[in-house]
Amino acid sequence: MTKVLLTGGAGFIGSHTCLVLLETGHQLVVIDDFSNGSAEALRRVAELAGLGPWRQASAEHWTAAEPGGGSLTLLRGDVRSPRDLDRAFAITGGGISAVLHFAGLKAVGESMTQPLRYWDVNVTGTVQLLEAMGRHACQTLVFSSSATLYGTTDRVPIPETAPLQPINPYGYTKAAVERLLTDVATSDPGWRIALLRYFNPVGAHPSGRIGEDPNGLPNNLFPFLCQVAGGRRQHLEVFGGDWPTPDGTGVRDYLHVMDLAEGHGRALDVLQAEPPQMLTLNLGSGHGYSVLELVRSFETTNGLTLPYAVVERRPGDSAVSVADPREAERRMGWRTRRSLADICRDGWAWQSANPQGYGSNEGQPTGALIGAQQVS
Ligand SMILES: NC(=O)c1ccc[n+]([C@@H]2O[C@H](COP(=O)([O-])OP(=O)(O)OC[C@H]3O[C@@H](n4cnc5c(N)ncnc54)[C@H](O)[C@@H]3O)[C@@H](O)[C@H]2O)c1
Repeated sequence: MTKVLLTGGAGFIGSHTCLVLLETGHQLVVIDDFSNGSAEALRRVAELAGLGPWRQASAEHWTAAEPGGGSLTLLRGDVRSPRDLDRAFAITGGGISAVLHFAGLKAVGESMTQPLRYWDVNVTGTVQLLEAMGRHACQTLVFSSSATLYGTTDRVPIPETAPLQPINPYGYTKAAVERLLTDVATSDPGWRIALLRYFNPVGAHPSGRIGEDPNGLPNNLFPFLCQVAGGRRQHLEVFGGDWPTPDGTGVRDYLHVMDLAEGHGRALDVLQAEPPQMLTLNLGSGHGYSVLELVRSFETTNGLTLPYAVVERRPGDSAVSVADPREAERRMGWRTRRSLADICRDGWAWQSANPQGYGSNEGQPTGALIGAQQVS
């Protein structure tokens, strides 16, 4: 059993990963500033994992534990703050052996209007985290990277060796952190680092208790589609019906968030079991689905009709983005197990049971533009 720190663990991917790691007996500490996550998500994770009662120990700190088993401690804090990070490393008596670094800003459009904020949180936050890891003698790190690094390549599927050519500030920050981590690993051979390049994580835990709860207007197709299904938004607008794809709409590689969460567990196992190394892996299903295929699967799986309209293409989008996931299977025995129908069923179970998410954001019904899910 190891003690692991998750930055941004109260967010979408982090909360599902917490659950997977608790089910394998880990002790977890989460640091999150709640800019896009909530303590309620982790209260529900603790409940699903069968931990004891979720207690608020102070205004900034929550905890739940099972005697002799897993535990979950949540600290409100900012990854850019050395003091908050030192507190996170020390809060349960020290001994953190690995970090999963989810904390960051991820909205592509927002990154174009607020580049300084994106560089500060995503890059400065990672520098501060690495400094703190140095102070606390921790050299194992799993980083949330992104297929957005590959830009608008026509290559199908995309291997890890494809050129990195990000096209927006969000993508540049992910590329900068990958570069930074490569330099750090080169400077000291004791580091164990995994760069996990996610394709399009979607869906929710099958219980419907935890899922994606974006602040305000969803940035990506799937949560938007769920909100249209739930009546919170009026209709879906699909960017581009004239792409060179079978039905003219953009094709993306959607992977169930529980498959992705399990991928983090595998990466951690491999890093901890093998000699120090740097792993760079695509996490995707290797299958592409068009926007219309996703819409139809959602309708068929859930017995619903989704109003949508096809509009102009959006600048910066590409026709197809599909992972070559074979390296992840070869290096860590991981591949996706859940289908598009599972994604649609579980995503709707979450949305229909929690129409306002965890209750923190009250979106107004509205129509808005959304295309093939951007890789964030
Ligand atoms: N969801 C996707 O489609 C996708 C795709 C590729 C990569 N990623 C990356 O994966 C990671 C997790 O994504 P997610 O979808 O779970 O996003 P999310 O927004 O749900 O989770 C990120 C969490 O980080 C927290 N956070 C933000 N800034 C912070 C700070 N300064 N200090 C502490 N906590 C902070 C937020 O409150 C949130 O809980 C991000 O780094 C994102 O860039 C996501």
